[in-house]
Amino acid sequence: MSMNKTERLDKLLSNLAYGSRKDVKSWVKQGLITCDGKVVKSPSEKVDPVFVLFDGEPLDHPEGLTLIYHKPLDAVCSHKEKGVLIYDDLPEQWQYRKPPLSSVGRLDKETSGLLILTDDGQLNHHLTSPKHHISKTYAVTLDQPLSGNEMELFASGKLMLEDDYRACLPAEMTAVGEKQAVLILHEGRYHQVRRMFAAIGNHVTALTRTHIGTLSLEQTGLKAGTYTVVEPKALIQSVSPE
Ligand code: URA
Repeated sequence: MSMNKTERLDKLLSNLAYGSRKDVKSWVKQGLITCDGKVVKSPSEKVDPVFVLFDGEPLDHPEGLTLIYHKPLDAVCSHKEKGVLIYDDLPEQWQYRKPPLSSVGRLDKETSGLLILTDDGQLNHHLTSPKHHISKTYAVTLDQPLSGNEMELFASGKLMLEDDYRACLPAEMTAVGEKQAVLILHEGRYHQVRRMFAAIGNHVTALTRTHIGTLSLEQTGLKAGTYTVVEPKALIQSVSPE
């Protein structure tokens, strides 16, 4: 017996970007679709997505899609801009799913590292809401040597960025080389890391997000441009264990 919510077959398959309702009609006619072992007779039949087989194969993540992705340099976090997009690294069918798959926040074109993509609005909200205190960690390479004052200034809660009205929340910086630092942020403003260093007269030459909460890019073992599908619950656990 099925336990999930049922949906009309034609709506389900068009939302999962298999094809149009017209296509579904023809697949049903050909007897290509079964649910719970029985051939589905009409496109309007209500089915449990988990028990549907299309030509003998389970459906493509019918309960939603969440990914951990290693964003490469030069890919843009957008559905429509010109150039190389992060979505080009994913199966094409996923670009047409409803609800759409989107990134949780964004990384700049010139920033690489850990990025989560999901079609789960609640998960997206959980990961971005300040209430859940999920920090982001960045490995930063600079044009000029660190002066030694950055750590205190970034931790002060007084750093103002150009065009912003509120000071940045305290952030933790550790120097790891003459021109290298690790910076942990507790908020996500536009180009924040680059703007923080620009505010003190330095310039970021390379930027990678290494952690989201406790989830580390290194642990994932993902090479740039690759991803892994995860369960939202397991993801929340690895980002912020209770
Ligand atoms: N800060 C930046 O400046 N860029 C990013 O992509 C993320 C944080």
